Amino acid sequence: MMIQLIDGWRFQLKSHASDVPSDWHTKETKDWSEVNLPHLWTMDDRFDEDSPIYTNVVMPFRHEPPELPQKNPTGLYRRTINIPNHWTQDRIVIHIGGVESFFFLYCNGQQVGYAKDSKLPSEFDLTNYLNEGANELALRVLKFSDASYIEDQDHWWHGGVHRHVYLYKTPSVFLQDVFISPDFETLTSSGRLAAKIRIGGRDRSSLAHTIEVQLRSPKGLKLGKPVRKTLKKDQFSYVTGKGPIVELTLPKRKVKPWSAENPTLYQLNVSLINDSGQYLESFDFNVGFRRVEINNRELKVNGATILIRGVNRHDHNPDSGRVLSRAQMREDLLQMKRHNINAVRTSHYPNDDAFYDLCDELGLYVVDEANIEAHHHYARLGDEPVWANQFLTRGQRMVERDKNHPSIIMWSMGNETGFGANHMAMTGWIRQYDPSRPIHNENAICEQGVGRMWDDNVHGTDVICPMYPSVEDIIEHAKHSDDPRPLIMCEFAHAMGNSCGNLKEYWDAIETWHGLQGGFIWEWKDHGIRAEANGIEYWAYGGDFGEERHDLNFVCDGLCWPDGTPHSSLIEYKKVIQPISVTRIGNHYRVTNKHDHIDLSGYSVDWVLLVDGELKQKGRLPSFSTPPGHYEDFTIAVDKVPKHGEKVLRVEFSLKKATSWANRGHIVAWDQFVLNSGPHPRKRKPIVKALNEQAAGQLNSDDLTITFDSSSINSITFAGYNIIAAPPLLNFWRAPIDNDGIKGWSGQDHKALGRWLRYGIDRLQWQHELEFDGQRKLVQRSRGKCQGGLLETISTYELDLNQLIVDHEFTVPLELTDLPRVGVRWQLEPGFEELAWYGLGPHETYEDRKTSGVLQIHQSTVTEQYVPYILPQEHGNLSELRWLSVNDGRTSLKVSGNGRLQGSVSHYSQETLTEAFHTYELSLSPYTWLCLDSMQRGVGGASCGPDTLDKYRVRHGKYRLSYGMEFTS
Ligand code: GAL
Ligand code: MG
Repeated sequence: MMIQLIDGWRFQLKSHASDVPSDWHTKETKDWSEVNLPHLWTMDDRFDEDSPIYTNVVMPFRHEPPELPQKNPTGLYRRTINIPNHWTQDRIVIHIGGVESFFFLYCNGQQVGYAKDSKLPSEFDLTNYLNEGANELALRVLKFSDASYIEDQDHWWHGGVHRHVYLYKTPSVFLQDVFISPDFETLTSSGRLAAKIRIGGRDRSSLAHTIEVQLRSPKGLKLGKPVRKTLKKDQFSYVTGKGPIVELTLPKRKVKPWSAENPTLYQLNVSLINDSGQYLESFDFNVGFRRVEINNRELKVNGATILIRGVNRHDHNPDSGRVLSRAQMREDLLQMKRHNINAVRTSHYPNDDAFYDLCDELGLYVVDEANIEAHHHYARLGDEPVWANQFLTRGQRMVERDKNHPSIIMWSMGNETGFGANHMAMTGWIRQYDPSRPIHNENAICEQGVGRMWDDNVHGTDVICPMYPSVEDIIEHAKHSDDPRPLIMCEFAHAMGNSCGNLKEYWDAIETWHGLQGGFIWEWKDHGIRAEANGIEYWAYGGDFGEERHDLNFVCDGLCWPDGTPHSSLIEYKKVIQPISVTRIGNHYRVTNKHDHIDLSGYSVDWVLLVDGELKQKGRLPSFSTPPGHYEDFTIAVDKVPKHGEKVLRVEFSLKKATSWANRGHIVAWDQFVLNSGPHPRKRKPIVKALNEQAAGQLNSDDLTITFDSSSINSITFAGYNIIAAPPLLNFWRAPIDNDGIKGWSGQDHKALGRWLRYGIDRLQWQHELEFDGQRKLVQRSRGKCQGGLLETISTYELDLNQLIVDHEFTVPLELTDLPRVGVRWQLEPGFEELAWYGLGPHETYEDRKTSGVLQIHQSTVTEQYVPYILPQEHGNLSELRWLSVNDGRTSLKVSGNGRLQGSVSHYSQETLTEAFHTYELSLSPYTWLCLDSMQRGVGGASCGPDTLDKYRVRHGKYRLSYGMEFTS
């Protein structure tokens, strides 16, 4: 029985801990505001004495541990609670789910206790403090304590009560702890279950009490008889007595195992019975039969080697900060499941209990992480004896609370705190207490945050779990190391802004090399906070709350926007990690089941045939029952294939039945094949009309007129309407993405952006010479000078009826190697809004992030091409364009390429995007910018980790860009 303590709280915020009078929790004054719990004062507009602070590595104040700043904002919470008469015979406990970061609890004027460790609940026995009727509860919450030094995670610093608070009652003899250890034996498909139950109560009051357990099937049916055991006197014998603990085992039986792919949950009912046969307490626990083990460099679940298709997740909500409802957590997890993600690391602290229930139910593997990060004092606190207790208790408290969740497959010892004896105190305790789960500790394989020690400290971590290694590094390790531990990247592919290039290469390596088992992308969500400026809503980040020390937009580095909308990086991740793939082998196809535990019988298999990007045929294949880890060959009978045109076959796997996380028909995996190459661009026919009588500076054909002078084309008109607003611009710049260099940070000179700015790529000085061949051809020779060197381009524009055939030849010299892009920019007159293209889509794709692009005709608008990255940056690239067309209702301009063309259309110029720091600073231009590129640099992940692979960089050399611009009415 419980009483939720949500409303009815009174609150005051003091900016200094010392401003709190000693009688604050007893004296009646008027200056209280009403609040509901959970409540973060940093997210409550009524209290502006303290706001969110974002820092990554550094502490938000300048002191040495354990000193604290003078200004330590302190929140005071008070509430009257009513204790019903029938409660007073019982033991009454208050559960305080999570407080940031340090609090004292008072009851009826007395101090009950205090607690740190802001991400786990604290419980206090209030039996002796409460009376029947009205009682006064009070909490004094300090924003910082010494423990803040080990809660220095890369996130917002908030203040307040961020999880639920409630009272519950138990009998005086009660179930204190239940530790269930289910196990699964693959060979016999059978499960065993052992339970260790601690009975609480004073002195020997638990004597003669009985524990009864009953297993129930996933459908709720009783399985076997209840098993009972009574606590006997010998439990208290001297020397041999183990205390009030009952240990039970259930007979082995055939069961369905739990895995992320098939999260079968049984129930165990645990009851406490007194010596007169009366049931005192009874609880249901979810049970997942499963075995986690590591051998021969492989992490196995139920005997199968799993791949971790993971993400790191922080608690975050753009409106409530760290306060999350169960429904919001569920939303996050559903979104993950729908994107083929099968694992979460609870970076970097334990989550709300509900989170693990949801993972058990929906099927996600969890690395549960202790709330320890001393990033600012990285190399120091892991070894200082005074911190040992705090480390140990954080590990213990996490394991104590979470140990019954089948979803948890590893215990993590925290993050970014140099490996030391304090870690081993925790590790040793956990290994002994719960031998069923491996230990995860990145600190053990990283030399105080700087060096790599992947083969060291075998006692400190059971997995090699590095951060941000390159593809080359992990392959190198797989090939040459003889370390017996699997390699699972605890963080990789930093998803900041337009990011996550090279996922395909990571995944190819993971699927190829023994001992590589996947990893967790950093990270799930952008942690922007919803805010408003000039009446425009935007996502606030570090510095937006006037923080003195902050790390700008580094807090926005997720696969989703703060509201959970997926970035294109998440769509790419879904494709790369898909658990089914189809490859083409000669005239037949091969399906590979990459699931770890389930066969393919749950999927419908559909195919479509597209000709020149349009759907022409479709069909459904009989389902496969390919077992996990196996492949099967098949053919697809396509009838009456048209002779001409590019033919693309796409095969899709969708759910036959709705699951707990997606509807029937949800597409889990797909692949596409270009069956023949497309038509070659039409051979140019000579123009019928003689062009001799051209006026000076003009080129005419049918409805098209081009004017030019000695340096440039100046206008293009079609059927009397102006098409371009300015001469075409050669384009080597892009609005920097976070991976090019964080534009608001100093110290980025070593990054691509630093180099480009040093060269002056954003400030090229152009000289052009244009020659007319007297017939129909214009040749423009361009020289773009900057500090770093000279870029040369020869462009030819040739008129052909209502088409302009364009060819640019760019020369990038060695000294300017590795540029943002090589291409051209056309500024079209206002009105070009309607968009279609035949190429990859519908979302933006880049050279190193285009596996998820579907090859077909896509329709959109120029406005919709805008991708509102929180820090404005390059976006919206479209790859493998066969053609792209824009239309202003009068004229359609169709650009045709050869399938290697890239491009984008936008109402924002790259100059505007380069300058802006927030979306609200951008103003929409009426013009349409059409960028066409021979190549644009990949996006990579260099904001924190490796840059894009060499093959995706715009190196020195010659580049060609050829396309036709065709105008029709
Ligand atoms: C890691 C760290 C994360 C986060 C990330 C950068 O080193 O563990 O907490 O800071 O870098 O976004
Ligand atoms: Mg950190």
